[in-house]
Amino acid sequence: MGDITAKSPIAYQATRLMAEAVNATQMALAEAYINGLEIPDSVFRSLLHTSMPILFQHAPGLLAPYEWVLRETDSLAESSRELMKVQYDLPQAMLNQMLGDWQVIYPKYSTGFWEHGATNLEQSQMHMIDQMIERLEIKDGDHILDFGCGWGCVPNYIMSKFPNVRFTGLNLSHQQCEYMRHKMEDPESYLSSGRFTLHEGDLNEAQFTEKFDKILSVGVFCHVGNMTNAFQKLASFLKSDGKVLIHIITVRIPNNMSSGFTHKYIFPHGRYWNHDAVPSHCRDLKTVNRWYMNGINYHKTLTAWLERFDESQQSVKSLEYGMDYAKFRRIWRFYLLLLGTIFATCDGEYNGNGQYLLTHA
Ligand SMILES: C[S@@+](CC[C@H](N)C(=O)[O-])C[C@H]1O[C@@H](n2cnc3c(N)ncnc32)[C@H](O)[C@@H]1O
Repeated sequence: MGDITAKSPIAYQATRLMAEAVNATQMALAEAYINGLEIPDSVFRSLLHTSMPILFQHAPGLLAPYEWVLRETDSLAESSRELMKVQYDLPQAMLNQMLGDWQVIYPKYSTGFWEHGATNLEQSQMHMIDQMIERLEIKDGDHILDFGCGWGCVPNYIMSKFPNVRFTGLNLSHQQCEYMRHKMEDPESYLSSGRFTLHEGDLNEAQFTEKFDKILSVGVFCHVGNMTNAFQKLASFLKSDGKVLIHIITVRIPNNMSSGFTHKYIFPHGRYWNHDAVPSHCRDLKTVNRWYMNGINYHKTLTAWLERFDESQQSVKSLEYGMDYAKFRRIWRFYLLLLGTIFATCDGEYNGNGQYLLTHA
């Protein structure tokens, strides 16, 4: 099945109707689970292992539950404030325990890399960043922008390796910025070295006076609805000989993908761009190299997060989630199980991560 937007109007409408039916079925299952349906994890996983290959291989158009998933949106990032409320400003004690919070590796909310022999989550995140250092050709003395910097894990690790690298981090999550401000006062953290500048703000409004040698963006473009505008912005922040590395969840199908469940409960207006979306939306920047990282890496990462999430229940259940913890827990178990299983579908060959090295066009 090819790109759904290239179909005849009748075929397109028929696909849209079927996509709505698939989405309604997934939402019914999700909401039954959230409301207490007892379904063992193994049954959940085999349901997905049976259905997802059919969708990926024969009916990818059905994986786009809404029209906005297929096209660029008006603003660079949609629903930013709602996204912070639903996801990134949740109790950090819960997120930090799930993601891991170590001496140099701070919570990192993106895949680890397990193909170089990592035996635990912390190591997999180090290996992931080591690979990005190589691919972005980071040199000591570079000034790097981290566009959507999370808790400052990537800047902290890279600054621990390069004594003269400077970082500027941009993030809209107030809670994550508070974590970094605390580290900026902690003498044991590289964020306190005077080489890290933090901007709490929205990608949509980002402006910088200085231009950067390198720009990194890790796991953020699933929240970007307009890549063309995003690349135009990044190009304006980049020195003439600068380089950009975009690390993104991606799908090797003709169209983009999302799910009604994640849109409603986890990542409002989140989507996975198809693997060709970065090069095909690059106007101000050009793609000079690209890599596909097999989805088993994210499967292992999400499995580790689910284990840690389950283990931390006692210590995090009394935090404020805006809803009863039992309901919150079921929403999050559904999320971690769903994504963890989908990344492993077809041996990780369809849903994984893409990395793209860009320079000025
Ligand atoms: C999946 S996390 C990845 C974080 C970090 N890059 C990492 O690898 O750990 C996405 C990050 O993008 C930030 N973000 C999402 N939408 C944003 C927006 N509109 N403006 C600024 N930051 C945003 C989130 O707060 C979060 O820190």
